[in-house]
Amino acid sequence: MGRLDGKVAILSGGAKGQGAEEARLFAQEGAKVIIGDILDREGMQIESEIAEQGGEAKFVHLDVSSEEDWSRTVDLSMSEYGRLDILVNNAGILLMKGLEETSGQEWDNIQNINSKGVFLGSKTVIPAMRESGGGSIVNISSIAGLIGSKFTAYGASKGLVRTLTKSVAVNHGHEGIRCNSVHPGIIETDMVSEMIGSQEGREYQLNRTPLKVIATSRDVALGVLYLASDESRYVTGSELVIDGGITAQ
Ligand SMILES: NC(=O)c1ccc[n+]([C@@H]2O[C@H](COP(=O)([O-])OP(=O)(O)OC[C@H]3O[C@@H](n4cnc5c(N)ncnc54)[C@H](O)[C@@H]3O)[C@@H](O)[C@H]2O)c1
Repeated sequence: MGRLDGKVAILSGGAKGQGAEEARLFAQEGAKVIIGDILDREGMQIESEIAEQGGEAKFVHLDVSSEEDWSRTVDLSMSEYGRLDILVNNAGILLMKGLEETSGQEWDNIQNINSKGVFLGSKTVIPAMRESGGGSIVNISSIAGLIGSKFTAYGASKGLVRTLTKSVAVNHGHEGIRCNSVHPGIIETDMVSEMIGSQEGREYQLNRTPLKVIATSRDVALGVLYLASDESRYVTGSELVIDGGITAQ
C-alpha cells in the first residue's frame, strides 16, 4: 500500500530538482501526479519516466505567475481525475543579490514567481479541494524565509510564503484543508550550483552546517511526502525545517 494511494497531487516546478524528485516519490507512493512547469521538454521527460515505472503522471505547462495557467491546471485535475488532494507550491527562482544591487524590476520578478505564484496556486486549488473533502498544501519556503539572508529579495519572497501558509491554515482548517511550509537549507540542485560548485563554496556551506552534509532532493521530498499524506492529519500552519541544523545555531 502506498502512502498516497487514491490521491491526486499538483506539483509546481516539477520538471527538475526537488519538484521532480517529489513527483517521482509521490507516484511511487500511489498518487496521480500533475507536473506543472515552464520547462516543457524536461517536464514531459519526468512524465514518461514515471509512466515507464508504472506510475501515473501528466505534464502541464504552468507559469506560476499566471492565473490562467493555474485555472487550466486545476481544471485538468478535476476533469481527468475528478478530485484534487495535494498541492506542492515548489516552483521558485533565486536572485543572488543584496539590497543595494537589486533593481525594482528584479524585485517584482522574484516576488511574482516565489510569492505571488504561491498565493495564486493556493487560491485556485481551494474550491477543488473543498469539493474533494479537504486537502494538503505544502509550500516550499527556505531557511531564507526564517532568518536574514544576504539575498534580500529572495529572503523576503520566502518570508511571505511562511506567513501566507499560516493564513491559509487558519482560514481553511475548518474545511479539512491543511497548509504547511518547508524550509530547506542547502540542497544539491541547479539552483545553488553557483554557490556550491567551487570547492571553496562547498566548504563554506559544509562548515556552517552542523550535520556537515549537503542535502539531496530526496531529503526534502521525504518531508514533503509526510506533510502531503494523511500521516500529518493534525499538522497545519507548521514549519518543517530541513537544513542540517543551520538555523539551530
Ligand atoms: N536548492 C536549494 O538549496 C534550496 C534551498 C531552499 C529552498 N529552495 C527552494 O526549493 C524550490 C525548488 O528549487 P530547486 O532547488 O529544485 O531548484 P531548481 O532550479 O532545480 O528547480 C526549480 C524549478 O522551478 C521551475 N520554475 C521556475 N520558475 C517557474 C515559473 N514561473 N513557473 C513554473 N515553474 C517555474 C523551474 O523551471 C524548475 O523546474 C524553490 O522554491 C527554491 O526556492 C531551494
